[in-house]
Amino acid sequence: MSHQHIIEGIYSDVQPFFGRGKVADYIPALARVRPDQLGIALQTLDGQTAVAGDSEIRFSIQSISKTFTLALAFALEGNDLWKRVGVEPSGNPFNSLVQLEFENGKPRNPFINAGALVVTDVLCRHYDDPKSVILNLIRSLAGSDDISFDEEVAASEKATGFRNQSLAWFLKSCGNLHSDVDTVLDVYFHQCSIAMNCRELSRAFLFLANHGVHPYTGEAMLTRSQAKRLNAILLTCGFYDQAGEFAFRVGMPGKSGVGGGVAAFIPGELAVAVWSPELNEHGNSVVGMQVLEWFTTRTGRSIF
Ligand code: DON
Repeated sequence: MSHQHIIEGIYSDVQPFFGRGKVADYIPALARVRPDQLGIALQTLDGQTAVAGDSEIRFSIQSISKTFTLALAFALEGNDLWKRVGVEPSGNPFNSLVQLEFENGKPRNPFINAGALVVTDVLCRHYDDPKSVILNLIRSLAGSDDISFDEEVAASEKATGFRNQSLAWFLKSCGNLHSDVDTVLDVYFHQCSIAMNCRELSRAFLFLANHGVHPYTGEAMLTRSQAKRLNAILLTCGFYDQAGEFAFRVGMPGKSGVGGGVAAFIPGELAVAVWSPELNEHGNSVVGMQVLEWFTTRTGRSIF
């Protein structure tokens, strides 16, 4: 059975799952998104594609952006990066402050907010214009030159991101944030605000399925060993404090965001992106997780 056929079947079977979650409302600009939307897009390394539903509608990628910033920072710093941020699942909500103090300002992993702020700090130290570097990487991987920041979402998060501001200042007090705090937060809020559709996102994740090599230019974004490590962190930490359940039900590494997007992949094969804005209590898309669970079940493919 073709991927297109399987995805269309899942698109129709998953409809009863709408209404079981809640659109993120802690960023006012995200709260206005219509909940009953679903996009699915898949891209294989050998050039096949499959799409269903709202796969051309752009949404806020939010924490999925942490995957791209980590790839950039890991390529720049190599293993020195792990002196400043750990690689263990946190078991705590993504914006938790408690663990950071107990662990003396070294975030558990790069996908909780504290860890992502350290990663963004690395980019702020290395680049004069980190926002453009992040955007250009994503545009190149996705093959779309008009992907951009959503300034309304970035401003909305800046106005309400008190926990992120607390985390950044606490990191600063521990000596684990070297740039100006407001600069790091500005870059972080902007990277989260980037708007992409599922087709673009599945394509942008394909370099992870391709062991760190840009599938269209052939450029090595990461070494093979670095790609292995990034993929391992995605599997163990990519879904907040629900990473264990995601691995259990879906069996692919990936990353979610509170905009309702989920991107996942099977190394050597394919990448898939799903977007549906209603979230469960962990901040993961309810419909998105179900789609991906059925995808690996019905294709018989996963990393296990
Ligand atoms: O930091 C925040 O609250 C959001 N901009 C990102 C949220 C998200 O998707 C979950 N974070 N790990």
